[in-house]
Amino acid sequence: MTMEKEMEVAVIGAGTMGSGIAQVAAQAGHKVRLLDARPGAAAQGVARVRDTLNLLAGKGRLPAAEAAAAGERLEAVEALEALKGAHLVIEAIVEDLAVKRGLFHDLERVVTPTCILATNTSSLSITAMAGACAHPERVIGLHFFNPAPLLPLVEVVPGLVTAPSLAGRCSAWMAAWGKTPVICCDTPGFIVNRVARPFYGEALRIFEEGLADMATIDHAMRSVGGFRMGPFELMDLIGNDVNFAVTRSVFEAFFFDPRYRPSITQQRQVESGRLGRKTGCGYYDHGPNAVPPRPADDPSLLETIFHRIIVMLINEAAEALHLRIASRDDLELAMTKGVNYPKGLLRWADELGLAWCLARLEQLQAEYGEDRYRPSPLLRRMVREGRSFHGPDGR
Ligand code: NAI
Repeated sequence: MTMEKEMEVAVIGAGTMGSGIAQVAAQAGHKVRLLDARPGAAAQGVARVRDTLNLLAGKGRLPAAEAAAAGERLEAVEALEALKGAHLVIEAIVEDLAVKRGLFHDLERVVTPTCILATNTSSLSITAMAGACAHPERVIGLHFFNPAPLLPLVEVVPGLVTAPSLAGRCSAWMAAWGKTPVICCDTPGFIVNRVARPFYGEALRIFEEGLADMATIDHAMRSVGGFRMGPFELMDLIGNDVNFAVTRSVFEAFFFDPRYRPSITQQRQVESGRLGRKTGCGYYDHGPNAVPPRPADDPSLLETIFHRIIVMLINEAAEALHLRIASRDDLELAMTKGVNYPKGLLRWADELGLAWCLARLEQLQAEYGEDRYRPSPLLRRMVREGRSFHGPDGR
């Protein structure tokens, strides 16, 4: 089933994500109703999206008629009852399970029995949200990335009792909206927020051990790895409060698996109020007169740093594949389209050599004696069987 343009979309929560998602849906041709609990917030959200559309038209990135038509399709509403005719509701309200469950429960009294209820949560269980519903089979996660109009990835996350056909239908709709959908299991962090954890965590460990300073670690990941930003630059951009909260929630949701343990260095950073760019200072000074620190340029040190972080990322991707969180291709798409990695981690593993990656992890595990470095059983098996992830016999 394709999502006809006549189908109506509702977005609840007119903040950063909700407004962006409303823009995407309106540009895809749907009538979109935007609702927020704070009086006037939905109207402000619609006005913001219209301004953005006009700006795009002004810059020649969108035909003026299209921008005007998309703007016309948006409507701010002030009551849940106004969402009665919606075929798809996407909630992007506060990240609080009790509040989201309450909203879904109330929504079911308003919408038709076939209306699909989607959540943009980044960290909560889809299954837990569906548990508040009389019809849990219509509940699904549609996790957009910020800014939603620009970043192509959408993680499509069916819960335990979601109707089997719904993930495929939602993926087709997201593709029709110009997005890149990937399907993943309802597990903590979904794909991106789980697999990316070592990018930050291992960088922080390397710093804590005094192996290199932050500027050098960032330089290593940019110059050797080809990443657009280094871990500390990226944490400053995301906000250390937000990044720390995600790490903490993934760690707790995995019942304190040491693989995801948060860093005290980052906790202190958050406690200091130096959150990153938004506060003018984080790991780096972002003030107008800031002088960027000079990284060390020792090629063997840069290689060491890059290799340690990349094998940890590869291990995480291999483990996600091992546990069937997502398919090989969706894992690769998620990391390249969601967080702009220069290539898929499993392809990277093939290029570095799986035996080499495994040996590095075993070396780290032997050196530290920590479960944090335990190699994925899938990596071990692939090495034993002489296979590669993208080879003809790949997974
Ligand atoms: P935000 O704080 O910018 O916006 C949330 C909006 O929801 C506010 O306007 C608030 O008034 C409204 N709201 C709160 N409770 C409500 C309720 N019961 N009913 C109706 N409206 C209500 O938050 P943001 O950043 O847009 O996040 C929204 C959701 O998207 C959260 O679940 C978050 O985890 C998720 N998310 C956020 C991303 C980000 O980078 N900001 C990325 C991907 C997902």
